[in-house]
Amino acid sequence: MGVIIREYQDADYQVCRDLWRELTQWHRDIYEDPTIGGDDPGAYFDQYLDKPSLAGLWVAEASTAVVAMAGLLVDGKEAEIEPVIVRVGNRSQGIGTQLILRLVEEARARGVRSLSIKPVARNAEAIRCFYQAGFTKLGHIEMFMDLMPKKDVEWKSGIVIHHNELRY
Ligand SMILES: CC(C)(COP(=O)(O)OP(=O)(O)OC[C@H]1O[C@@H](n2cnc3c(N)ncnc32)[C@H](O)[C@@H]1OP(=O)(O)O)[C@@H](O)C(=O)NCCC(=O)NCCS
Repeated sequence: MGVIIREYQDADYQVCRDLWRELTQWHRDIYEDPTIGGDDPGAYFDQYLDKPSLAGLWVAEASTAVVAMAGLLVDGKEAEIEPVIVRVGNRSQGIGTQLILRLVEEARARGVRSLSIKPVARNAEAIRCFYQAGFTKLGHIEMFMDLMPKKDVEWKSGIVIHHNELRY
């Protein structure tokens, strides 16, 4: 199946808003927390489109339907890929990787020196995809305390950094 990567157009708005909702749903699933993203999980997409740092948004089309999107946020010589989302039924076919590699080229063309991507620590599938696409350096680590732990919800173990075991 051929996949076309092209720039976002206004006509893609609704399908991309739905993709954002799928991203939120994925985070709800992996954290077992249905409150993530609030009542209208697609709503943040509207705020996202207004970000001054948004340098471009690209979509992947398969059989003329938009099945994925990825955005590039640029701040001087630094940039971030945020978000990258592939529709549930189209994952693990190489589409996310194709989109990421296109955005790497877009960042390069804009003179970016450092390109980052910031998955949540529990998003093992995304981390594997990003690692295979070339994101093999580690920058900042966000450490936090859970001040309102939920009953019956366990933080997972198995990540060690500088000999410190962290839960995620
Ligand atoms: C993370 C995400 C964007 C990855 O996109 P994807 O299209 O599923 O990823 P890819 O298919 O490119 O790569 C994932 C797997 O497919 C494999 N793959 C790559 N090209 C392939 C191809 N042509 N055919 C089949 N599989 C392929 C990759 O090797 C990898 O497999 P493996 O690690 O099991 O060996 C997608 O899973 C997703 O949208 N997740 C939910 C939203 C999310 O978490 N976004 C990231 C937030 S930061």
